[in-house]
Amino acid sequence: MSVTIDGIVREAKDGELLIDAINRAGTALSQVCYHPQLGSIQTCDTCMVEVDGNLARACGTTVSGGMVISTASKKAGAAQRQAFDRILSNHVLYCTVCDNNNGNCTIHNTEKLLAIEHQAIPYHSKPYEEDPTNPFYRYDPQQCILCGRCVEACQSVQVNETLSINWEDAHPRVLWDGGAAIGESSCVSCGHCVTVCPCNALMEKSMLGNAGFFTGIPKTALHGMIDVVKGVEPETGYEAILQLSEAEAGMRESRIRRTKTVCTYCGVGCSFEVWTKDRHILKVEPLEGPTNGISTCVKGKFGWDFVNSPDRLTKPLIREGDKFREASWTEALSLVARKFAEIKAKDGPDALAFVSSSKCTNEESYLMQKLARAVIGTNNMDNCSRYCQAPATQGLFRTVGYGGDSGSIKDIEAAGLVIIIGSNTAESHPVLATRVKRAHKHHGQKLIVSDLRENEMARRADLFLHPNPGTDMIWLSAVTRYLLENGLAKTEFLNQWVNGLEEYKKSLDPFTMEFASKACGLSEDTLKQVAHMIAEASGVCVLWAMGVTQHTMGSDTSTAISNMLLVSGNYMRTGTGSYPLRGHNNVQGASDHGAMPNFLTGYQSVNDPEVRARFEASWKVPLPSAKGLDNHEMIDAIHQGKLKSMYLFGEEMSLVDSNANFVSDGLSKLEFFVVQDIFFSHTCQFADVILPASPSLEKDGTFTSTERRVQRLYQVLEPLGDSRPDWRIIQDIANLLGAGWHYSHPSEIYREIASLTPMFAGVTYERLEGFKSLQWPVAPDGSDQPLLYTKHFAFPDGKARLFPLKLTELTDQPNAEFDLHLNNGRLLEHFHEGNMTYRVAGIREQTPDTFLEVSPELAQERGIQSGTWVQLTSRYGQVRVRALVTGRVTGNQLYLPMNSTESPVNRLTSSHTDLITHTPAYKEASVHLKVLENGESPLPRQNSRFGHPTPQHGVEVERKWKRADYSLPGSDLVQLRTN
Ligand code: SF4
Ligand code: SF4
Ligand code: SF4
Ligand code: FES
Repeated sequence: MSVTIDGIVREAKDGELLIDAINRAGTALSQVCYHPQLGSIQTCDTCMVEVDGNLARACGTTVSGGMVISTASKKAGAAQRQAFDRILSNHVLYCTVCDNNNGNCTIHNTEKLLAIEHQAIPYHSKPYEEDPTNPFYRYDPQQCILCGRCVEACQSVQVNETLSINWEDAHPRVLWDGGAAIGESSCVSCGHCVTVCPCNALMEKSMLGNAGFFTGIPKTALHGMIDVVKGVEPETGYEAILQLSEAEAGMRESRIRRTKTVCTYCGVGCSFEVWTKDRHILKVEPLEGPTNGISTCVKGKFGWDFVNSPDRLTKPLIREGDKFREASWTEALSLVARKFAEIKAKDGPDALAFVSSSKCTNEESYLMQKLARAVIGTNNMDNCSRYCQAPATQGLFRTVGYGGDSGSIKDIEAAGLVIIIGSNTAESHPVLATRVKRAHKHHGQKLIVSDLRENEMARRADLFLHPNPGTDMIWLSAVTRYLLENGLAKTEFLNQWVNGLEEYKKSLDPFTMEFASKACGLSEDTLKQVAHMIAEASGVCVLWAMGVTQHTMGSDTSTAISNMLLVSGNYMRTGTGSYPLRGHNNVQGASDHGAMPNFLTGYQSVNDPEVRARFEASWKVPLPSAKGLDNHEMIDAIHQGKLKSMYLFGEEMSLVDSNANFVSDGLSKLEFFVVQDIFFSHTCQFADVILPASPSLEKDGTFTSTERRVQRLYQVLEPLGDSRPDWRIIQDIANLLGAGWHYSHPSEIYREIASLTPMFAGVTYERLEGFKSLQWPVAPDGSDQPLLYTKHFAFPDGKARLFPLKLTELTDQPNAEFDLHLNNGRLLEHFHEGNMTYRVAGIREQTPDTFLEVSPELAQERGIQSGTWVQLTSRYGQVRVRALVTGRVTGNQLYLPMNSTESPVNRLTSSHTDLITHTPAYKEASVHLKVLENGESPLPRQNSRFGHPTPQHGVEVERKWKRADYSLPGSDLVQLRTN
């Protein structure tokens, strides 16, 4: 349709907001509360325009064909200025001495646009103090213009439901949990509110006193300067004040760098700009990331102090007896190369093994496996997907062909029903969880959660299943059988797209409703309800994680999920599909880029002669064809005396592998062990040489997120001290062994990867510039596939395969001696064992230690309180930890988060594994609990888990409009088609 904007006919889209059409036309219109990612809030009234002669808010009006709009008529202009005048009565324009004066302040820029010289309504202060009680940001009510962007972000994007505005109060302000101090509220410090605040009312503490040239001066002097600015305004007007502040903002550009990066923590793949002044991180600014937009969690927004930690390794270290001494790079690298060459000559190439990092870049994983294969001559190469995601990949290889998420996070948002199995999504993949929470809260999406704990997603679910531990495969198979037997399967889809139905049906014989109900501890009615919800949904997405994969049946349960999706016709369109949620930022990429014992890049098999021939021609060496050792087999091979040397980078293997005592014992037996890391990790203590590496902020490269999304990260800071990017170190070692590599930038490495890998044929650094991204597979012309399987499945005949399954016995089950089931997983604030996040002061303040979740029933039975020290003993080891009594767990089930190096859960787990992939069965563990002395609660009062959220439907501006002192700006405003 077309509309006329300021006399020019413009195209407009049916149903879009008028403000979007105006902005697309490039017409400058004031708009303080509107943010495209938040939608229409309608609190500020600065976007008043004339529509067919009547005043209306452009952000509250839906376009219709033929509309005639004037943004600059006398009436519209007067209304805009009146609205902005009201805003200035809540906000002092002291821009020159404000840390938010960086060229992007909405208030400053709106003042300039509307060119208001003098305020009609004078500024009036509010009777509230600044609130500095959150470690990462502060709220200044005196500068708050009550636009409500923060409330909308918290209620409707992050959906933590902490923020509201008390519109009925004489002096409204933003409230946390209805009026608590921020530090005692349910705020999870995700930073959404700070990111979207259009002024300096909410600001990162790392900005304060640091961004401006004059903002670091003592507070009294600063207040004096603010008073001077206020004093001159009546005489000079705002124009002179703005000119001065703009000159100061311009000066800032010379010393503040804004660099795009990708988050180093989880696999969601959030990207953002990092603002730095020298090595000081001023702030993280998310805005344009294809996955996250304005969203982050506490780790991505505020979790970067570790980069400048004094604990960073900055010099190579060489073991001398029980100690390490500093060494030069030349000495350390020569020693590594000499020892690798000696061991290879003495015991053969398979006496060495290589472990790549899921925290490092694709290019670095590629070089590590090239070093292993082309320089040493072994396929003993793996990465930590062995510990978590290999079974999910296996389940998808068996059924649909590609080992990655079948769609994007946008597809998950579009689903009619989301089923989450064995994933604490709100804590482990926080930004992805926000999309599900939003769709569930605002768009009628249904949610089923199957978990042992009543985590946040379980609390929000329409149906929460609490099956017996390790039985998800059984209920999934029974539900699938029920779909097939009750006319609820998608027969047409099965006939056209799926092979193996008859054999699969036979394999379902044991999985009756009756059997499943008994084995899983779920009623038959509940299981039937699940089946009907699946059959009735417009589309089903299943999300799963380590609660599924870290079992003896990890691969089979993943397969059962995909079988169920095929039978219910939930592939090949948006809002459907399988989503194994990748844990680390680049665990997907490490596997994709060949850090596996059986695959070269892009899952090309090492025993395929055609594949090997292609790599041999490029690398100019013969390559080994037999599958190498995986992580699990490496430890066994050390104990058996077959494996003599290991080179591991960016992995805390001695704590994160299961049966940690056995693993540590193995590592200590290595003849020569090289560890490359940014800190002296627990694993470093077993090393012979330690090489200091650079974290993601100190290098260029690419990461691949859970959506198969390849994104570029740019170097933000120089490597600290003598540390070096991993790709440089690997290249140096390869060259000392005679490799003759000449990569001067990771882009050159990627060019080689693309030339050897059909899956990445069209990936280039140019196509990934800035915030651009590609979701593999990428064709040579650069076209990618956000949604897999639109035309066919990834098998030669284009059809998916139903994969028959059998039951397997669970391991390490409770008995009279080890009577409690022990579950484990992540916490929102800490990443994994916490090597990085414990070095972030604010995170440490809020979550200083790990804790054992104990159910109220068990606590009462054993006399345990929050803070009681307990000793857990399993068949494999012992830890001491403080209890936290919580209804999140029930009965005899315990939960121990993995964020501890002192009480690591893996001292308790076994060496049992998933039968297919050797992923440890971490979730099958039983312990004996002994109560020790009482102590302090392991969680301080300022932890968000003690807060009391205040859910409401967004900012609720209607309550503002009902105030006696509120009137619409402009004399004759008429509401047109408002939301
Ligand atoms: S949870 Fe906290 S940081 Fe996140 S949007 Fe809400 S108030 Fe802001
Ligand atoms: S604190 Fe919230 S309501 Fe106040 S100006 Fe910032 S975003 Fe708007
Ligand atoms: S959700 Fe994951 S990728 Fe996004 S900011 Fe948090 S840790 Fe980083
Ligand atoms: S931008 Fe439209 S009311 Fe604020």
